[in-house]
Formats: sequence, structure tokens, C-alpha cells
Amino acid sequence: MASANQIKQLIRHFIKKDEKRFLSVVLQISAHESKIGHTKFAEELRNLVENTKLALGSPKPIAPEVVSSNSSRIDLSHANDLFTVSHPALTFKNIILSQDIEAKLVRFLDENRNSTKIRQYGLIPRRHLLLYGPPGTGKTMSASVVANELHLPLFTVRMDSLMTKFMGETSAKLRSIFEYIGTHKGVYLFDEFDSIGTKRSVTNDVGEVRRVLNTFLQLLDEHQSDSLIISATNHKDILDHALYRRFDDVIEYSRPTEDAIINLISSRFIAFELNVNDRDKLISSAHGLSYAEIKKSCDDAVKFALINNMKKVDQSQLVSLLNERKSYQN
Ligand SMILES: Nc1ncnc2c1ncn2[C@@H]1O[C@H](COP(=O)(O)OP(=O)(O)O)[C@@H](O)[C@H]1O
Ligand SMILES: [Mg+2]
Repeated sequence: MASANQIKQLIRHFIKKDEKRFLSVVLQISAHESKIGHTKFAEELRNLVENTKLALGSPKPIAPEVVSSNSSRIDLSHANDLFTVSHPALTFKNIILSQDIEAKLVRFLDENRNSTKIRQYGLIPRRHLLLYGPPGTGKTMSASVVANELHLPLFTVRMDSLMTKFMGETSAKLRSIFEYIGTHKGVYLFDEFDSIGTKRSVTNDVGEVRRVLNTFLQLLDEHQSDSLIISATNHKDILDHALYRRFDDVIEYSRPTEDAIINLISSRFIAFELNVNDRDKLISSAHGLSYAEIKKSCDDAVKFALINNMKKVDQSQLVSLLNERKSYQN
């Protein structure tokens, strides 16, 4: 808990409207909470501070004027319109990955941990990742793990506010985002990146969509800073070769294999026991579902057991919940 002294400081800074000092006291409290093991609370406080900073505007004003092809200017004092920022606590322990994916992510992290050495030799560490695969297979999670492993903030680009009715404006916003990326080191996630592509059907203006995509690719090519850019998409079809070439790694995510299914289910039944009598039946009822769907079914089964004062979860209950979820797919 905050000390009496810290509470007094907070009140004083609040009355004086001294946001900088106010937030720095909050960070002190967060550091203290983290030290005594209240990591979740500490993380929440840090996220609050980061998001407030974004809302208040960049402390060091960056390139004040962003001029786009249609000459509209984007006001970067409201960076929180363009991003949300967080400090994820996820590690490799929390995510189940195939060896191939894990190896690629580890290589990506290693290159960035050694970026000074690598750059001294005139080489550039991997900085741009493209993740694709069905929903609920760990793409967004992976971006969080990368940010946490490198102790960097995770900025998630708000695709909804990026994609506006006016494509010219979207290109201008993209430029602002890349200006920001170049001056604020972090991991930048363009999640559901395909929404750049899906606007095609909405506006029916293929030319404009191409232009936005081309702007993105051009900005990616020009990007020099140590920030990392991760794009994630559920749709393979948007991946033409122009896109592939621009990324240092293209990583495909899939629904869990049998081993991964067992691994995932086991990880959901640690505090609560699962009574397994037919392993193969359990696996086959989970087969074809995503990690996210299987996890939800496990959690639903535990909730059911709790409500009904049961000591264990019975396999038949979990199987029926998995089948229920599968029926949504049809
Ligand atoms: N590979 C995975 N290992 C463990 N849990 C996963 C995995 N993929 C997804 N999940 C679970 O599903 C949720 C959604 O995953 P997410 O990373 O957002 O999927 P995606 O971005 O691929 O749609 C996660 O919060 C997690 O609980
Ligand atoms: Mg996602």
C-alpha cells in the first residue's frame, strides 16, 4: 500500500495540477508493490500511468507537423487515439508453441537482446514480424510475450481509428504512427492487420486500399529505429509476395496438435482436478478447436463443478462442453 507520505504527495501534486510529479509518485508506489510481490497491482498502476501519459500527449514533442499526401495534419498530442499501451506480464511459460514457432521467436528475441553488437557490424537485427493463422492460436499473446521478454511497452495500434472513411487520412495517420514508432522504442502490434485489406469491399475503392497498403509497406521499408513491429492477421489471402518480402519473419500459427491439446488441458486443471477415463475421446472432442476455445471449455467445466459443489471435473462434462463449442463452428 502507498505510505501516508505518498498519499500526501499525491494530493499536493493533484492540487497543483502537476501531472508529471503525480504520475512519478504513482510509479514509485508501483515499484514498491512489485517488490513486495503484488505484481498484478503494480502492472495495473504502470499501465494507468502509461495510458495517462499517452492521453496527455508525448512529453517530447516529435515532428510537430505531419503532412500527408492530402495535406491533412494529424495531431500527435492525442496518441492514445492511435494506440493503447500495456506492459504485459506473459512469458513463454504461459503459451504453448510448436518448436518451430518458439525457435523463430527466440531467434527474434536474441537478435534484439544483442542489437548493439549486431549493429556495430553494420548488420540489422530482425525487427518486423508477420504472424498469421486462425483466431485464438496465440498471435496476440506472442506479441505480449515478446514485449515482456524485452522489457518493452506493447503499443497496440487501434485499427478501428486508423481505418477511417477517408483513405487519404488513413495514410496520413499511418505516417504519424511511424513517426511515433521511430521516437518511442517499443513493440508495436498491428493486430487484425487485414482490416487494411477488408476496407476494399466497404469502399469498393481498390485503388485507395492499395495505396494505404503501399504506404504501410513503404514506411516499413524506411523504418530504421530499434522499435519492433509485429503484424498479425487471421487471413492468409491478404499475404501477397510484396508483403512477405517486407518482413524479417513470417510465422504461421495453427490450432493445437494432440500433444498441445493435452498440454493445454493439463494447464487448466492444476488447482482443480480433471477425472480422465478416455484420453482419446477427450482429444478427439477438442480436435479442430482453437486454443482459446479449448481454454474456455475447460474454464466452463470448472465453473460448472464449482456451482454444483463437485470436488472434481468429470471428463464427460468437459467433452460435452467441447462438443457444444464445436457446434458453433458449423
Ligand atoms: N498457443 C497458445 N497457448 C496457450 N493459450 C493460448 C494459445 N493461443 C491462444 N490461447 C488462449 O486464447 C486466448 C486468445 O489468444 P490470442 O493470442 O488473442 O489469439 P489470436 O491473436 O491468435 O487470435 C489467450 O488469451 C489464451 O488464453
Ligand atoms: Mg489476436
